Amino acid sequence: MQNRGLNNKKASGWCRKLLSWYDDHRRDLPWRNESDPYKIWLSEVMLQQTRVETALPYYKRFISEYPTLQKLALAEEGRVLKLWEGLGYYARARHFLQAVREVDCQYGGRVPDTAKEFGGLAGVGEYTQAAVLSIAYHQPLAVVDGNVRRVLCRLFAITEDTSKVKMQREMQRIAQHLLDPSRPGDYNQAIMELGALICIPRAPRCEQCPVAKLCEGRKAGIAAALPVKKKKKVLPIKQYTAVVLLQAQKCLIRCRKERLLHGLWEFPNVVTSDDTDVELSSLLSTPVTLAKDVFQLTHEFSHLRWQISIVLGETTGEVQPQGDGWRWVTVEEMDVLPFPAVYQPVVKMVQKKLRDN
Ligand code: ADE
Repeated sequence: MQNRGLNNKKASGWCRKLLSWYDDHRRDLPWRNESDPYKIWLSEVMLQQTRVETALPYYKRFISEYPTLQKLALAEEGRVLKLWEGLGYYARARHFLQAVREVDCQYGGRVPDTAKEFGGLAGVGEYTQAAVLSIAYHQPLAVVDGNVRRVLCRLFAITEDTSKVKMQREMQRIAQHLLDPSRPGDYNQAIMELGALICIPRAPRCEQCPVAKLCEGRKAGIAAALPVKKKKKVLPIKQYTAVVLLQAQKCLIRCRKERLLHGLWEFPNVVTSDDTDVELSSLLSTPVTLAKDVFQLTHEFSHLRWQISIVLGETTGEVQPQGDGWRWVTVEEMDVLPFPAVYQPVVKMVQKKLRDN
């Protein structure tokens, strides 16, 4: 294992400067004035893969509806997904709800403070564990997220590919070595805050950086180019055709059972082919005629891109969809059910059509 110039003197100067900068410059965020582990946990779940500005209104709405862990434990999953609508990575929300219910039943409603118990809850990985236990319970566990990785790569002029598992372990080791055990929660938030406000991607604001003098990447003139990441693979594309079917002031939708977007609602769809109309007719057990007008939607997930053709359809016989989870819904019901971001324009269009009818 390389030392990377990681001595105790450098670590203590770094902590002192970083924390003093944080004390003066930290953003005033609602979860930073909190000692309630439930609220801190929610904020950390929302902030994974999501920027502070995006998560903030979601956090406020969520807390005003579910101010306590006990209230959330009684929530309906569909309502929680609705509050999460647009934030993406919905498994986070489902796992959080499941974990909160476990805490309510198994730990008498108190968020456990040991790595073994807290880390054993649904959806709690290494990041969430370190973030919540350090911020809520002052335990000396270092977080590593994208911001921290960038800051550390620049601080130590690390030019290896950070997407490799070996380097991720190395990052965790360095982060843990640098952590200030006297203020672990503040320290973790400070390094993430530095990454979000100063040590930003591509064009770091080194002239405002409290630790610029310690930065090896800056010294070597390579800070802006770090971290080095393997080129992203081209995403595979899946093409679907989704049909809008309206009958008696209602629209046909289906609750997804698949892992991706589980529990969210969508319009009847099949993989696009030369026989899309036949496939849709078979799915709905009645002949479906598709209109000529089509509009295209696309959505990029982390591992996959969807291209969806949206078409209006007409049926003659009785629609008997294959499988379960289907519903004919009114405008008002569509307001309440959670739909993935990609389908939002369709929801708006259908609601307008139903209202205009
Ligand atoms: N990113 C994730 N959690 C954060 C926090 N508590 N402060 C700043 N950035 C974060």
